[in-house]
Amino acid sequence: MTSPSASQRPLDGFALILGASSGFGEAAALALAAAGMHVIGVHLDRRSTMPHVESITARVRAMGREAWFYNVNAADDGKRKATLDDIDRRLAERGEAGAVRVLMHSLAFGSLRPALPRDGAEALTRMQIEMTLDVMSSSLVYWVQDLVTRGHLARHGRVYAMTSEGSRSALADYGAVSAAKASLEAWTRQLALEGARRGFTANAICAGVTRTPALEKIPGHEAIAAKAVVRNPHGRLTTPDDVAQALVALAGPETRWINGNTIFVDGGEAAAG
Ligand SMILES: NC(=O)c1ccc[n+]([C@@H]2O[C@H](COP(=O)([O-])OP(=O)(O)OC[C@H]3O[C@@H](n4cnc5c(N)ncnc54)[C@H](O)[C@@H]3O)[C@@H](O)[C@H]2O)c1
Repeated sequence: MTSPSASQRPLDGFALILGASSGFGEAAALALAAAGMHVIGVHLDRRSTMPHVESITARVRAMGREAWFYNVNAADDGKRKATLDDIDRRLAERGEAGAVRVLMHSLAFGSLRPALPRDGAEALTRMQIEMTLDVMSSSLVYWVQDLVTRGHLARHGRVYAMTSEGSRSALADYGAVSAAKASLEAWTRQLALEGARRGFTANAICAGVTRTPALEKIPGHEAIAAKAVVRNPHGRLTTPDDVAQALVALAGPETRWINGNTIFVDGGEAAAG
């Protein structure tokens, strides 16, 4: 009899997804739940988009998994502490302290403006640059610090940080996000170095261009998408589910030696140049 493949073997524990209500975070929530994990989601939504969040939690629960979602600013220290206190309490009630096995950082909240004033467009301010770096990069470190201090992320723990090709190349109005992505990749390497002996790995995941609300906020996004379709060897854009399936595969114990990388999940888009 052959042993089951990694993809058939169910995952266990909890996935904590920062940015779980849309795009890659949403797709990962559904795919990791289908693979056996409970989902803790952090997101920032207005009343108008809450029905969509409720549809995600309903789908996760319909698979027999827990769905604990928190509508809070993930970059706010007080909100992070209150959220983690509540998670600790709920895990303790279930007798599952230390059961967070995946942390995914998939927050999209950046200022899209030029570095220099142009044609009436105002240049980035210090506050905008710092807020973009804080939400899209530094917040990863604070969540990992707290999860480690609270005794999570042990035994085959996984940290995933969503990055983009913008970490290496310049794009109009994308400077603050570019800087945040370069910083996020540096922090991911650092966490990989320091996390290995604590039992978890950390990798940045570089997705190809993908239709999500975040993409649609980038000036000139239609041209970016059209170029990506031409460039991608598969002749199409990446989908959130393409990435979610890769994250499920990377969550298994067989991938524990993959650590400190930026893994391109883009169908070969970046390699195609
Ligand atoms: N879409 C692309 O083409 C693409 C490509 C490569 C990398 N990425 C990266 O993937 C990540 C996710 O992007 P997406 O395209 O899925 O975006 P999205 O807009 O679909 O989702 C963003 C999520 O982040 C949440 N969020 C934003 N700010 C928050 C905050 N302060 N606190 C809590 N939650 C917050 C939103 O509620 C939402 O759940 C981003 O880091 C983005 O840069 C996107």
